[in-house]
Amino acid sequence: MLRRNKINIEREWIMKLVIIGGTGLIGSKVVTRLSEHGHEAVPASPDTGVNTITTQGLAEILQGASVVVDVSNSPSFEETVVMEFFTTSTRNLLTFATAAGVTHYVALSVVGTDRIPDSPYLRAKNAQETLIKGGGIPFSIVHATQFFEFVKRIADEATDGTTVRLPPVLIQPMAADDVAKAVARIAVGAPLNGMVEIAGPQQFRFDELIRQGLDARNDPREVVVDSHARYFGAELKERSLVPGDGARLGEIRFQDWLGQPALQQR
Ligand SMILES: NC(=O)c1ccc[n+]([C@@H]2O[C@H](COP(=O)([O-])OP(=O)(O)OC[C@H]3O[C@@H](n4cnc5c(N)ncnc54)[C@H](OP(=O)(O)O)[C@@H]3O)[C@@H](O)[C@H]2O)c1
Repeated sequence: MLRRNKINIEREWIMKLVIIGGTGLIGSKVVTRLSEHGHEAVPASPDTGVNTITTQGLAEILQGASVVVDVSNSPSFEETVVMEFFTTSTRNLLTFATAAGVTHYVALSVVGTDRIPDSPYLRAKNAQETLIKGGGIPFSIVHATQFFEFVKRIADEATDGTTVRLPPVLIQPMAADDVAKAVARIAVGAPLNGMVEIAGPQQFRFDELIRQGLDARNDPREVVVDSHARYFGAELKERSLVPGDGARLGEIRFQDWLGQPALQQR
């Protein structure tokens, strides 16, 4: 009897969720996680015939969906392109999700988006969030810190010759697996109509993190602290990249993650 009730309860919870960017780093992990929990998690991206810029395939894929999870990303971080991507994509998604009767709109954004106004990328993420807040669909915005998988890209962006120049700030990065776990959990919960911060279990000095990441790849670049260095064009304060006190923390530690070679490939 108890077992039957449990199955019924589980059945009531099965929902269709459309994962925009569901073929990407975070998206593919969110799809896997939700599917493992018995949900109908549908990946949507140009690769699967759905494009949030042209609106191709959007109406069809959203039919019968109760949740949209937007973990897509702009193909370019150039100022005009990234702003155009996140605003056009979000406007289209909100229009089509409203028409489909979606009751929970989840989006992944970045810790510090609201306090680093001179970053073109984060300005675009901020614009995305403003549209969602005014979009009329109950929502949850998830602010994540930098992914471990992003360490090499950060280093490449900050490289000057053979030297990586980083500002003297703190960072609390997290594994993509922990990001996906948190996003999936929030997606099946009640809308927050607000923002939640997620982060990794450890704080690092920025230079220390990047040095450890490059060392693990036998990358010979020298990492130095430079008080004039910018982060993707933005000037940072010591705590710009770290979350506030209420952040939900992941479990995977950087050294353990570095020990899994497949994860270092990005
Ligand atoms: N990197 C970080 O450290 C960090 C930190 C915090 C938050 N975030 C946020 O995390 C999110 C996901 O990042 P990620 O690294 O998982 O991204 P990713 O691996 O680059 O994947 C991007 C996804 O977006 C899809 N996409 C691109 N253009 C699209 C379009 N027009 N319509 C629909 N889908 C489209 C791509 O599809 P195709 O493969 O078919 O092109 C792909 O599935 C981003 O919004 C980012 O702001 C990142």
